Amino acid sequence: KNIVILISGGGSNMAAIVRAAQRDNWRQRYGAQVSAVISNRPDAGGLGIAREQMIATEVVDHKRFDSREAFDEALGRAIDARQPALVVLAGFMRILTPGFVGRYQGRLLNIHPSLLPAFPGLNTHQRAIDTGCRIAGATVHQVTVELDLGPILAQAAVPVLPDDTADSLAARVRAQEHLIYPRAIAQLLPAL
Ligand code: GRF
Repeated sequence: KNIVILISGGGSNMAAIVRAAQRDNWRQRYGAQVSAVISNRPDAGGLGIAREQMIATEVVDHKRFDSREAFDEALGRAIDARQPALVVLAGFMRILTPGFVGRYQGRLLNIHPSLLPAFPGLNTHQRAIDTGCRIAGATVHQVTVELDLGPILAQAAVPVLPDDTADSLAARVRAQEHLIYPRAIAQLLPAL
């Protein structure tokens, strides 16, 4: 069972998933492995981390395509070449077309840094602070055509502290993301 992870940036969630797969021996337990990491940005920090872990990497640079459809088509070809049972978005910062989402329906996951359905979209931590939330968190969910609104698979909550900045809150939430994302994936693997 191949797992393909899509990133755009630092890849800390990707790294947490790769670590969990090794630590908990997903290969033996579920016959599963992270078989490729694909980035839409050539300069994504996560690409180096993946290479260090001997995982195949690939870049499908969205700037080389003149429409979302053309980019998604190329991305889909790169993904399909790996024959994935599961496609995992981990800090992948492109909105996907309905065609793409449909192609991977039921095996496409995302992590979002808020307690959905609160704060879909960007700048979640600043918005949570500005709204006066006492609790923030992260959500692992199935991807559907509506942005950040698919069925929820896992959540973790953290307190918002009085002196929090978006960065300090993001760091607290991020630590929880690294726990819940690998766990949510492991729970799905037996059924795939
Ligand atoms: C995470 O906060 C994730 O929830 C959001 O983007 C961030 C990605 O961070 N979708 P990283 O690239 O995994 O470090």
